[in-house]
Amino acid sequence: LRHPHKLLNLISIWKGDITRLEVDAIVNAANARLAGGGGVDGAIHRAAGPELLHECKQLGGCEPGEAKLTKGYQLYAKHVIHTVGPMNQDAKVLRDCYLNSLDLCQTNGFRTVAFPCIATGVYGYPSDDAALVALSTVKQWLETDQHDQALDRIVFCVFSDKDLELYKETIPKVFI
Ligand code: APR
Repeated sequence: LRHPHKLLNLISIWKGDITRLEVDAIVNAANARLAGGGGVDGAIHRAAGPELLHECKQLGGCEPGEAKLTKGYQLYAKHVIHTVGPMNQDAKVLRDCYLNSLDLCQTNGFRTVAFPCIATGVYGYPSDDAALVALSTVKQWLETDQHDQALDRIVFCVFSDKDLELYKETIPKVFI
């Protein structure tokens, strides 16, 4: 099993537009209808092109906490994992977003994944609480036996200086 300090080697923070990342999968902070929207969802659909929305419409929606997979189309990323964050600051649902996304990565043999700060925009989840949930959930997932060696890189894609500072501060606290 990897040691916590080795797990830290799998984690990156990157500030910028998630659609620029060439990874096996980027995670989308979508809505339950998988209908596209603003924020990171809008950016991903714009960059991927209309075929993404076409595939999303076949999926029959996505409950909060669930995750569904599509291709990446015109994105640099090969795939998009669509997950729906809580609208009511429910930590369990936010945790499930990360767990189900990571499970999809493992099921599909993805080695690299990038997460945005799910639910912290339109859905209003406080950034500092959300960062703690995100980081501790990913750490716990990586620590479980059957997930050891599953992934090579997990990128936390932040979009603001505030979130960049928050993740820089929080990562060493969580990955002690
Ligand atoms: N790349 C990375 N992160 C981004 C980008 C981008 N291009 N654009 C926005 N963000 C960041 C926001 O700054 C925020 O920190 O993504 C985080 C999540 O914010 P939202 O996109 O608003 O997502 P969320 O809060 O989960 O709300 C979901 O918004 O767009 C709609 O269809 C979506 O209804 C759903 C809701």
